[in-house]
Amino acid sequence: MDHLKIFDTTLRDGEQSPGASMTREEKLRIARQLEKMRVDVIEAGFPAASNGDFEAVRAVAEAIKESTVAALCRTQDRDIARALEAIAPARSGRIHTFIATSAIHMEKKLRMSPDEVVTAAVNAVRFARNGIDNVEFSCEDAGRSDLDFLCRIIEAVIKAGASVINIPDTVGYNLPEQFAERITQLRQRVPNADQVTWSVHCHNDLGLAVANSLAAVLAGARQVECTINGLGERAGNAALEELVMAVRTRQDVFPCDSRIDTTQILSASKMVSGITGFPVQPNKAIVGANAFSHESGIHQDGVLKHRETYEIMRAEDVGWNANKLVLGKHSGRTAFRARLAELGIEVESEQVLNSGFARFKELADKKHDIYDEDLHALMSDEAVTPEQEHFRLVSSLFHSETGETPHADITLAVGNAEHHAAAEGSGPVDAAFKAIESVAASGADLLLYSVNSITTGTDAQGEVTVRLSKEGRIVNGQGADTDIIVASAKAYLNALNKLQSTLERVNPQV
Ligand code: KIV
Ligand code: ZN
Repeated sequence: MDHLKIFDTTLRDGEQSPGASMTREEKLRIARQLEKMRVDVIEAGFPAASNGDFEAVRAVAEAIKESTVAALCRTQDRDIARALEAIAPARSGRIHTFIATSAIHMEKKLRMSPDEVVTAAVNAVRFARNGIDNVEFSCEDAGRSDLDFLCRIIEAVIKAGASVINIPDTVGYNLPEQFAERITQLRQRVPNADQVTWSVHCHNDLGLAVANSLAAVLAGARQVECTINGLGERAGNAALEELVMAVRTRQDVFPCDSRIDTTQILSASKMVSGITGFPVQPNKAIVGANAFSHESGIHQDGVLKHRETYEIMRAEDVGWNANKLVLGKHSGRTAFRARLAELGIEVESEQVLNSGFARFKELADKKHDIYDEDLHALMSDEAVTPEQEHFRLVSSLFHSETGETPHADITLAVGNAEHHAAAEGSGPVDAAFKAIESVAASGADLLLYSVNSITTGTDAQGEVTVRLSKEGRIVNGQGADTDIIVASAKAYLNALNKLQSTLERVNPQV
């Protein structure tokens, strides 16, 4: 049985979705979850893109021990040197260098001849190999590149020392049979093809990213590049959860399997959706809220009589129904600390632990059962340092009554001073945001407002995401509370604090 390597690019290609920009801490949280899920390679970012991205890749390289940490770079020496520096602390690191190989990209975008492109690719791989053994080369737009040219450049970069060759369908143009044929041809025609791992990276413009990747696996690819929830440029990348579960469920067809701990899939999906503010559609395969629910009477009857009549996978195998009742009102500090450690939530100091524990007790007073997801939300609030919290909610009062205009009274701490603000709105959330804005005067545009319930039940915490844009910067703010108006105010303030902070990275596309 071959090992199918899972290369997750949520932190790089996923982050290229407009508005999905992440902070260093957010990238670290996701990276730890990917490691726990046993992803083989985590592509942490594009270090030459910005100092923020460099710092984030370096932090991931320092923290992750069980997965390889990859950094993307173009073929320029400066890009590669920066990527090498960022992944230097990694126990296992990889340089992923790429250049476009399709006629349209070479002529219109790069303005380079095919010979120049081959030279740039070979030099880049050689340069990278001076710093590290593990080098992946990608032929950008390979899905539309001339096959003879692909054979030529790939043979040359393998000779130069690349050990993974990635074939991206950058614009999501291929059809499964055609893409599989491309992989078969390349593996047959490139003379040194057997010296490398063949990888694919498919985009979803025609909704075929997963189908194309699976077809390529059947044609011999042994690494697939993918993202949690299919996040990524435009229509996104192949969804990790769909690829992994297709291969695991159809072992009668695939001669390989991944090492993924599938029970971690749902937590990863929720974490990525919460951090980026990209909700998961209810009918999304594997991780959508309805993915395992049976509505029709005939289906319900069948499942009750014999589960496999309508279920090809078990919900618990991908993390559903795995909400553990971890702690309650009477749990002590030691149990709280132990559960955080089990969840891989790092607590920077005793002070953070103490204030986290105090907030846990507050939450336990309002909500009987505290689940893992509640602890994640609670501790991600704690991860905000005082320097990152220019605006803080001190107290709030919201009034909403049939026939009356909703009203919000808010007290905010701004630096060391307290400010009071009141406003009316079309609803209590609108009133709260107007009151906050009357103090903050950010002038930012609200791009997105969404509420998700963190767990089930009407006593669940609501997790609110607010996306703001100002002068080309896009940030996401999150807030969680059992009161969704308070959660909304917290999310808005969190986004304002990110706009305020110089630590927050600029979206790479901007
Ligand atoms: O889609 C693409 O071609 C890419 C490469 C940089 C691998 O993301
Ligand atoms: Zn891509």
